[in-house]
Amino acid sequence: MTTAVRLRGVEKRFPRVHALRGVDLDIEQGEFFALLGPNGAGKTTLISILAGLTRASAGSVEIMGFDVTRQYREARRALGVVPQELVYDPFFTVRETLRLQSGYFGLRRNDAWIDELLDNLGLADKADTYTRRLSGGMKRRVLVAQALVHKPPVIVLDEPTAGVDVELRQSLWAFIRRLNREGHSVVLTTHYLEEAEALCKRVAMLKEGRVVALDRTDNLLRAGAERRLLLDLDASELPASLQPLLIGGEGRHFILDLPDYGDLEGILANLREAGIGIRDMSLAQADLEKVFLKIMNATTERT
Ligand SMILES: Nc1ncnc2c1ncn2[C@@H]1O[C@H](COP(=O)(O)OP(=O)(O)O)[C@@H](O)[C@H]1O
Ligand SMILES: [Mg+2]
Repeated sequence: MTTAVRLRGVEKRFPRVHALRGVDLDIEQGEFFALLGPNGAGKTTLISILAGLTRASAGSVEIMGFDVTRQYREARRALGVVPQELVYDPFFTVRETLRLQSGYFGLRRNDAWIDELLDNLGLADKADTYTRRLSGGMKRRVLVAQALVHKPPVIVLDEPTAGVDVELRQSLWAFIRRLNREGHSVVLTTHYLEEAEALCKRVAMLKEGRVVALDRTDNLLRAGAERRLLLDLDASELPASLQPLLIGGEGRHFILDLPDYGDLEGILANLREAGIGIRDMSLAQADLEKVFLKIMNATTERT
């Protein structure tokens, strides 16, 4: 199967900044993929290159097998990008904006799909409103609709939920999830790591123009962050067998390292055998935010 997005040795040099320093990446069709990284890591630059808005200084980029420079039209048609910046033409209504965008792709009678987009993005009652009159969140929805007018197989969203309220976010994700289930590939950048964790099966982390982590989300969570077991016991000493796992706590509160969920059973059995009762117990879960910070701190710049 054709790879949805394929990057090989992609570099981007601005006059003062080496924004991308050799990025190799394959995103398969049907993936829901997160591109994460701190501000300035190069995410938007990478997306601009995918969209053909910026040229890479070196390397090659293909969307659905089409080279973004040599086969610009085909590549552009295969891609829908929701840009990070709110850009809109103040002189058009929402529906006019979407018709214009359709015309750009040579789609004349696209109103059935436009209506579906408006419905699904909660814009139906704003169809005849000038975009300049919309709130920031509503403008963001129009940008999403614009990116989707031509039903692109590959959808890229650059911080789509920045400054967007919870209700809007949830309806946006419900719709994007549906498109993903229907086979569209989705690439998402976001500062809300819990969003990436909930939505994306695979993650690339970018730092200073390089991919510093690339794996399935569940692997990153398993490998990258510690799991801890918090215990409140009716004893002030742990059985000797559990002492090696102790990493903190005071009084009758104990914090144990839990390398694997499978170790839980043994810990409970040890307590039972020692006749120690459990008053309260909880697990401190790994989350993508912790993993992200750990990876960002561990990777130092190599120039
Ligand atoms: N048009 C540009 N001209 C010069 N430098 C740029 C331009 N666009 C981005 N940069 C620089 O490239 C780096 C990566 O920026 P960007 O891709 O926007 O990062 P991110 O989206 O991950 O926050 C930053 O140092 C930024 O200042
Ligand atoms: Mg950006």
